[in-house]
Amino acid sequence: MVVYNPFSPETAHNPFPVYKQLRDETPVYHNEEVGFWALSRYEDVVAAHLDTDTFSSAHGVTIEGYDQGSPLLITKDPPEHTAHRKIAARMFTPRRMSQLEPFVRATAADLLERVRDQDRFDLVQDFSFRLPLDVISELIGIPADRRAEVHELSDRLAARDEDMSGTDDVIQAMADLLSLFTELVRERRRHPGQDVITMLMNTEVEDSDGGGPRSLGDDELATRFMELAFAGHETVAKLIPNGVIALSWYPDQRRELVADPALISNAVEEMLRWDPPSHYQGRWTLREVELHGAVIRQDVRVILITGAAGHDERKYPDPEYFNIHREVDRHVSFGLGRHLCLGASLARLETRVAFEELLKRFPDFTFDETGVQRHYSGNVRGLASLPLLVERTAAV
Ligand code: HEM
Repeated sequence: MVVYNPFSPETAHNPFPVYKQLRDETPVYHNEEVGFWALSRYEDVVAAHLDTDTFSSAHGVTIEGYDQGSPLLITKDPPEHTAHRKIAARMFTPRRMSQLEPFVRATAADLLERVRDQDRFDLVQDFSFRLPLDVISELIGIPADRRAEVHELSDRLAARDEDMSGTDDVIQAMADLLSLFTELVRERRRHPGQDVITMLMNTEVEDSDGGGPRSLGDDELATRFMELAFAGHETVAKLIPNGVIALSWYPDQRRELVADPALISNAVEEMLRWDPPSHYQGRWTLREVELHGAVIRQDVRVILITGAAGHDERKYPDPEYFNIHREVDRHVSFGLGRHLCLGASLARLETRVAFEELLKRFPDFTFDETGVQRHYSGNVRGLASLPLLVERTAAV
């Protein structure tokens, strides 16, 4: 019998064997003890993401559902979601993203130059969380002296223990983040800047209830601020180390990327498929669902395991193999449909530039397995520390 508990350290360390069991033996899985159902096959995960009439986000997107009723965009259903998403999407225009590339590159280069002469550095602490945090801070205007605090609170917001304790701390971290951002919004009202929050302050929005155009209040702005700061750095910070592990395990492919950096864009898609930062998205059933001979009742928690969908052999041949040449069409690591990740193009840009700059300076590396530390979390999976060992002889 398959037992799947995403909170067990063994599963956090390597969920892929149990994902295979789920897909093959119990594609509609029920964990009575923790209290959730799970879909793991690619086709089922895609269909559920697209069916927002059946699978609601409003009860939160984690298993615990601490985030239900929160003001976050990710936990809203239409029509409220549609109106808020339209507002947030204004920050991610293709033009704005392409304008950001020089800043992303300069930031990545600066961080890597600081460790250039070291034979060993911590990829996470010295690079992978700093890069997206600096970029999202630049985009939305978080001052440099508040960024460490934002990172610490975001980590606490995502963290979970094995027994799922830590509820009070998670709620406290969200409250502290919101009050920090409310303070920043008020500050920005006094001193407008060039960032997107100032732009949003000056924008009128149409309400979903047809109430006509109005400007956003401080609370709404602080919420947009908070969700972008959180989603904008916790995820990319985890994807870069996962990609570094892949390229340490597959040195031939790393050498190919060093020789031809144009391959890095596709390698990023493969990194997203192979070990994404977000392995599942929680939903709540608004009606009964019958699938593969099983019945999922109305009003229960279902998780859509995108991490398992990306390894479904029904979709991807030889899925455990990391392959920078794989055609990764329509992977689900950014979700799909209405809640499709708003920051996907920014995440792709940051990760591509991160690897371009990293491989240019450090074409040969391994990592110290004894120093690897995992960040135990709900639906964000990744490392808190990854000691990178640089091969000096081959370095350019
Ligand atoms: C590798 C990096 C990233 C991954 C893997 C990722 C993954 C995801 C996923 C799976 C969802 C859908 C959640 C659901 O359906 O419940 C999502 C939504 C979202 N993401 Fe990302 N994300 C990444 C980076 C970013 C960045 C950089 C930003 C912002 C700067 C961002 C902002 C958002 C927002 C605002 C949503 C909510 C969209 C909505 O509900 O309409 N993400 N992301």
